[in-house]
Amino acid sequence: MRRQISQEAGFLWGASTSAHQVEGNNIHSDWWHLETMEHSPLKAQSGHACDSYDRWADDMDLLAAAGLNAYRFSIEWARIQPAPISFNLKEVDHYQEMIDGARERGLLPIVTLHHFTLPAWFAASGGWLRPDAAERFLAYVDVLLPLLEKAEAVVTINEPNMVAVMHRVISGEASLETGLGGGLPKPSTAVTDVLIDVHHQTRAFLHENLPELPVGWSVANQVVRSVPGGEQYAAEYKGAIEDVFVAAAADDDFLGVQAYTRTVFDADGAKVVDPAAPLTQTGWEYYPKAVGEAVRDVRELVPDVPLLITENGIATADDQQRIAYTDEALASLEEQADQGAQLLGYLHWSLLDNYEWGSWDPTFGLVAVDREHDFLRSAKPSLAWLGQQNHRAAQLSATTPTAAHHTLSSTERDDS
Ligand code: BGC
Repeated sequence: MRRQISQEAGFLWGASTSAHQVEGNNIHSDWWHLETMEHSPLKAQSGHACDSYDRWADDMDLLAAAGLNAYRFSIEWARIQPAPISFNLKEVDHYQEMIDGARERGLLPIVTLHHFTLPAWFAASGGWLRPDAAERFLAYVDVLLPLLEKAEAVVTINEPNMVAVMHRVISGEASLETGLGGGLPKPSTAVTDVLIDVHHQTRAFLHENLPELPVGWSVANQVVRSVPGGEQYAAEYKGAIEDVFVAAAADDDFLGVQAYTRTVFDADGAKVVDPAAPLTQTGWEYYPKAVGEAVRDVRELVPDVPLLITENGIATADDQQRIAYTDEALASLEEQADQGAQLLGYLHWSLLDNYEWGSWDPTFGLVAVDREHDFLRSAKPSLAWLGQQNHRAAQLSATTPTAAHHTLSSTERDDS
């Protein structure tokens, strides 16, 4: 039996962040080390980030004031366990306050346990390929049990497929520029296997200790497509970078869908980008329908698993473009709901203009942060706009019987 996210709150409508990208001073993490080392390959450091470690209440106030009802954020393992033998219980209290703070504001806390960053000691000693990786992760999760009791749902690992890709990039085995056919490099199969095992063990552990808590993970959907001739290449690529991670969610309570753009291959396995489409600040093709297509793709593999859109958004300096993109993205989801997709909610990436893994240039936020002037937050028009879209929740959470009816009538039309 799958555990359900609160029926009372209805459709989840909110935004997402991750600890390292917004909190600041994540000094015990592997990313901090990578950013600050001599000859760092990264352009910019996270530094004080958005200072959300101290200003999380302001962030949540902004979400709640806009009429949103959910906030996805992550717990930083490197803060909880800064050294192999020590757990910092003050940090556990910190995240407890955040979970309580979200509830007090009417925001359902969707909590991620691992969002890209690791404790530096864990990463330096083999990371996910340590023989005791699962045991270590479960020891961290064990410490979190009292606070997870009040979480609405838990995402064990954010984008395990990107973690497995980045493992090969960080170890120097592959590069982002020379990846498979111009797409991202293939994930490490060893890390893929470990992450799936860690996810399943964590799910079992949480279900045993907190039997009501919905548990899932979130996959970076690539929306892999091909022009004629590229089918085989695209299928092989999609299988390795996405399907294996989606299939591993078959017995989860929900699957997190995260999509921004599509990846189209030609017969040579090279990436094709529609020349007429604008590129976003991250260089990705502007393709708002990606999220709806991602939903369609995952339903082919795990048709019974309810889906939560845990990330979707655009890096742009033009907030009107953000609104237009999101509007079309929501329309693409409405279409899927109409065809029977079980959607639990929509969480926009991101609440804040935050640290984009080596750069401050791409701005994904519904809220701007002035890092030079006391981290002043200014809500962009898109934040209020998103809040006002919650009337679309009813259509997005359209029930399966209506969808079944819809499918039947279109089949009938085809037959006639
Ligand atoms: C990640 C975020 C990231 C976003 C935009 C996702 O891959 O989960 O951390 O900022 O996409 O690149």
